[in-house]
Amino acid sequence: MKGLILSGGKGTRLYPLTYTRAKQLIPVANKPVLVRVIEAIRDAGIEDIGIVTGDTGPEIREALGNGERWGVNLTYIPQDAPMGLAHAVKISRDFLGNDRFVMFLGDNVIQGGINDLIRQFGTSDWNSQIVLTEVEEPQHYGVAELSPEGQILRLVEKPREPQSNLALVGIYMFDHHIHEACEAIKPSWRGELEITDAIQWLVENGYAVHPYVHRGWWIDTGKPIDMLDANDHVLEELEHRVEGFIDRQSRVDKRVTVESGAEVINSVVRGPAIIGRGTRVVNSYIGPFTSIYHDVVIEDSEIEHSIVLEHSEIVGIPNRIADSLIGRNVKLTRSPIKPSAHKLALGDYSEVGLL
Ligand code: G1P
Repeated sequence: MKGLILSGGKGTRLYPLTYTRAKQLIPVANKPVLVRVIEAIRDAGIEDIGIVTGDTGPEIREALGNGERWGVNLTYIPQDAPMGLAHAVKISRDFLGNDRFVMFLGDNVIQGGINDLIRQFGTSDWNSQIVLTEVEEPQHYGVAELSPEGQILRLVEKPREPQSNLALVGIYMFDHHIHEACEAIKPSWRGELEITDAIQWLVENGYAVHPYVHRGWWIDTGKPIDMLDANDHVLEELEHRVEGFIDRQSRVDKRVTVESGAEVINSVVRGPAIIGRGTRVVNSYIGPFTSIYHDVVIEDSEIEHSIVLEHSEIVGIPNRIADSLIGRNVKLTRSPIKPSAHKLALGDYSEVGLL
């Protein structure tokens, strides 16, 4: 079996962070979402993985290389324009050959435990397996209608009036018949070749498409709040370990990871939380559900339920920062220079909520 990861999206809903970084490379619990996806596929026993990339292709290639760090072989497949998930399958035809494959959206984070599902498909005689989950606003997704016996009746992409609350999660398994389906379908109203339509074609033409209903959590990380949600879930499931230094004056919960080379001095860290390598936390409070990436400085400050990216500095901010997503090389400090005022240099589309 092969793996195919779709990683072409621009991430406009995560501006300004995604002006300077591919959204799939934004870390959740200190690991880029795309790396979590690669590891999930690898853990299902798959080594050959294709990555369909768009504008951010060069950055993704630079970050992941040939994949040997994760024990996989990565093949990059550039997509000129975001013309749909079925279009991505079409341009991956040479890479996929006639093999069975699992396709993952590179910005989705799902609760573990689906490896067996993927393995099973590898040896089954189904033509496809789709993963569904109950959602509150099905109109934003591909939606599946099932019969009382649990067979797929119909799949519709973003229906105005959804007939079910079962959404297609961004994980799909196919055999080679999907290629015929992708050739047969026409672009949707949004001008994209929809994978949902291709799967509907399989159903209509008598191919066996098996629905699996996932009961755990699943997050499609489009907006900052989704990144924080995914971060909450992953931090909660992480096996925590302390490899860095914690001084005697500090109080650090059990459910806290302190990566190697990190230092926690005279501070309180409540878990679940993660402190990245080379980061210094001094005279500060780090509250639950916080991920501090590598080489950050947090001094005389309080922060909780937030993600802070590498090389940022938060110094002398005692009013607690919460529910925040802070980019790379950001400096948040107190200014001693009069007039006493908020002095801001914010990128386009920044969002700041002051007290
Ligand atoms: C895509 C699929 C949709 C699926 C969703 C999951 O939507 O077209 O069927 O439910 O991913 O994240 P898009 O992200 O292109 O709007």
